[in-house]
Amino acid sequence: MSSEKKRNAARASIDFIEPGTTLGVGTGSTVNFLIDMLPEVKDRIDTVVSSSKASTDKLVEQGFEVSTLNEAGDLDLYIDGADESNKRLQLVKGGGGALTREKVLAGAARRFVCIVDDSKLVGMLGSFPLPIEVLPMAQAFVVRKLLKLRTQPVWREGFVTDNGNHILDVHDLTISNPVEMENRLNQIPGIVTVGLFAQRPADVLLIAGDDGVREMRV
Ligand code: 5RP
Repeated sequence: MSSEKKRNAARASIDFIEPGTTLGVGTGSTVNFLIDMLPEVKDRIDTVVSSSKASTDKLVEQGFEVSTLNEAGDLDLYIDGADESNKRLQLVKGGGGALTREKVLAGAARRFVCIVDDSKLVGMLGSFPLPIEVLPMAQAFVVRKLLKLRTQPVWREGFVTDNGNHILDVHDLTISNPVEMENRLNQIPGIVTVGLFAQRPADVLLIAGDDGVREMRV
């Protein structure tokens, strides 16, 4: 059921790809449906940039040549999934561990279209443990800082990011002010990226439910 919804959300995002698009591609099971559909609109895509090794491999399988962001310049469009979204289209991302490159691509994009099934839309962010990418040499220090903030950080066992770093999943947060929380966590040295996309939320949220796909904009 959820797979069907993810596929529907991915399908709806295809309409946002206009002729000559420089496209950023996210990471995850919802985006994987999108990558499978991209050959249908290959003639509309000028350049593709990927947010992870996993998505790059899949794009290459589908016959795309993947450019770096340095080569591509700014993106016309970035399409990615999310672990949670609120009504302001502020997101929690990083369940797949690709949050750092995802945040860079979202920041470089003129338009960010987020594709989710309806289980991802929440009243308040924080039920999904917040992923944080951490430099290995700063691991213990960052944990101490997070514990002082009365959070519950848990290392993601055996996981190394594409950037050679580790992920802390921070449980039981009540994120009533996402921008403030993102700013506060960004101040901790050794944190590479916080999986809160609040300062740069999505521009469009495509939410697939039982009755089709609806669109939200800020
Ligand atoms: C990966 C992400 C994904 O967008 C997020 O985890 C959603 O994944 P899925 O589409 O598999 O539900 O942030 O780092």
